Amino acid sequence: MAFASGGEAQAQEKGNLTPADATSTNTQSGCREPIELTVNGGRYRFHVEPNWTLRQLLRDEIGLTSPKDWCGGMGACGSCTVIMNGRPVLSCLTLAVECNGAVIETAEGIAKVKHPIIDSYIKWNAFQCGYCTPGFVTTAKALLDRNPNPTEADVRDALGGNLCRCGTYQQHPKAVVDAAQVLKGVKS
Ligand code: FES
Ligand code: FES
Repeated sequence: MAFASGGEAQAQEKGNLTPADATSTNTQSGCREPIELTVNGGRYRFHVEPNWTLRQLLRDEIGLTSPKDWCGGMGACGSCTVIMNGRPVLSCLTLAVECNGAVIETAEGIAKVKHPIIDSYIKWNAFQCGYCTPGFVTTAKALLDRNPNPTEADVRDALGGNLCRCGTYQQHPKAVVDAAQVLKGVKS
């Protein structure tokens, strides 16, 4: 069973970036819309089709495979969750053209900066399969960014939109609360 219905992933706002250090482009224009965004600290410019999702952009154009499609892009599972401008969003329901100026984090970026949530998930055996775990990790990291003292109830509420059929749900609140302690320097 899931923790709760709903969860936190949602639509997001726009921001602005300078294009000076863009690291990657697809320059085909045609009817495509130009966007710039930052992904895991790297700047990117793209020309995107109006119907491309953020998930497509991340996977097919940048090669980041952590955002998964487990429910057929219906917004029902949370496996495609990434952090956009500090908030968890469902990348399967977010159009790429909405992402101009956005700052995106994926599970790859969270692992790259060695965020304590990664070790904590391993320590507490909270990780699951490659399909559902990235969405749990991104949602949990976004929670810790805005709430350094989450209770297990807070974690259950935040992760309510992330589904798994298999069942280590009980370990997630322990892992996230433990990561909060590491971030505060209470634990190593
Ligand atoms: S693939 Fe996005 S919510 Fe399931
Ligand atoms: S769906 Fe990933 S472990 Fe169950």
